[in-house]
Amino acid sequence: MSSVDIDAKIPNNVDLAGDRRLQRALEQWQPKFIRWWEDLGPSAFKRNQVYLRTAINVGRDGWANFDHVEMPDYRWGVFLAEQDPDRTIAFGEHKGLPAWQEVPGEYRSELRRLIVVQGDTEPASVEQQRHLSLTAPSLYDMRNLFQVNVEEGRHLWAMVYLLHRYFGRDGRDDADEMLERHSGDPDNPRILGAFNEETPDWLSFFMFTYFTDRDGKYQLASLRESAFDPLSRTCDFMLKEEAYHMFVGASGVGRVVQRTVELMHQHDTDDIHQYGGINLDLLQKYINFHYSVSLDLFGAETSTNAANYFGAGLKGRYQEEGRDDDHVLANATRLVPSVEDGVISQREVSQLVALNETLREDYTQDCRKGLERWNRALAASGIDTKLELPHIGFNRQVGAFSGYEVSPRGRLVDDDQWAKQVDSWLPTDGERAHVTSLMRGVTEPGKMASWVAPPAQGIHQQPLDYDYVRT
Ligand SMILES: [Fe+2]
Ligand SMILES: [Fe+2]
Repeated sequence: MSSVDIDAKIPNNVDLAGDRRLQRALEQWQPKFIRWWEDLGPSAFKRNQVYLRTAINVGRDGWANFDHVEMPDYRWGVFLAEQDPDRTIAFGEHKGLPAWQEVPGEYRSELRRLIVVQGDTEPASVEQQRHLSLTAPSLYDMRNLFQVNVEEGRHLWAMVYLLHRYFGRDGRDDADEMLERHSGDPDNPRILGAFNEETPDWLSFFMFTYFTDRDGKYQLASLRESAFDPLSRTCDFMLKEEAYHMFVGASGVGRVVQRTVELMHQHDTDDIHQYGGINLDLLQKYINFHYSVSLDLFGAETSTNAANYFGAGLKGRYQEEGRDDDHVLANATRLVPSVEDGVISQREVSQLVALNETLREDYTQDCRKGLERWNRALAASGIDTKLELPHIGFNRQVGAFSGYEVSPRGRLVDDDQWAKQVDSWLPTDGERAHVTSLMRGVTEPGKMASWVAPPAQGIHQQPLDYDYVRT
């Protein structure tokens, strides 16, 4: 059954009331989550009223409610997309068989691992962003930050539900550990490297939501294909919320580009730092950094784990069902990038081991769309600079390019050349300091910081000068 119990202690559409043991266990985890939120969630405006979207259902329309709420009172719930009773497995060795409603014993540890790794990123990003509200460029933006934060919190709930419901004692321990690892903690860090770096400023936040949250979108989309139906349905619903996080990043960077252009025209110069803006070449360096770090999250080009996950039906490709091949890939091959004899080239491998690369390519395609939009805006205002994605080998720590230095244009360089040119490719300390110097909180409704243009419209039909956060 999947009717919504919205008034329960933990709002849900998974009939928690019908499973008292599970309900009790999750109700015991709930205060630990709240304590974590109070300790490591947003460090300011903790008890202000924020105009937030809350998931209340999973239907096609009306799945969310908008209202002012104090964040610790946010109704974090467990929602799975509607079950399709006829769903079959779309790929791998078990293709065509009914999707699993329980965890097969032989895949228990792999599934658990996939869920833990995904789950760990959700609270990690909240921790990374916890100080940003102090320097929000507007109340509109502060609200968006908090919206992303509470939904990442709900995504943690989504994974914790699966761990509690399907993985017994191990799963309950995993759920507790989600709140014990902390971003940047030297003794007990978050699982993935990129989630241990602080998000130091709002330009980084917009870049993070554009590039790094988008990695999350692709991971969720490939888990949505999973033969384990509850995981698939969970991810399906998370992707609805995730779409807004992508919007925050895409529109955020777009508004910075717009403001940069305005200042360039107004002062008739490319160097607008003295006028409280961010130069286009610095935006390019931020793109170089965030894109390359996010590429690493997909893992090495070839991976037997990825092949095993696919073969077993645990993790598919992006939009698996829309692809016109046999969805088994037993004999299929493809090219992956490699570096051989000091030259960037390609080598042929089986598609099964190259699934990380396949997902990364889909991600890159998606990233390009934003750049095209920003470049159209630049061209429309008569500026011929183009923002670009750097070469996939640039600044990589994982996979074929780790151990090599590659320029943004895709040229292998030696350590000397790298050291000489890195300041023109990645933000320097001085440039980061400039961005930091622009970060002053603006808390008057409708007002906007100097370095970013106002959004095209408000949230949920509210005006731009609405009190998105009541201060
Ligand atoms: Fe998330
Ligand atoms: Fe997200």
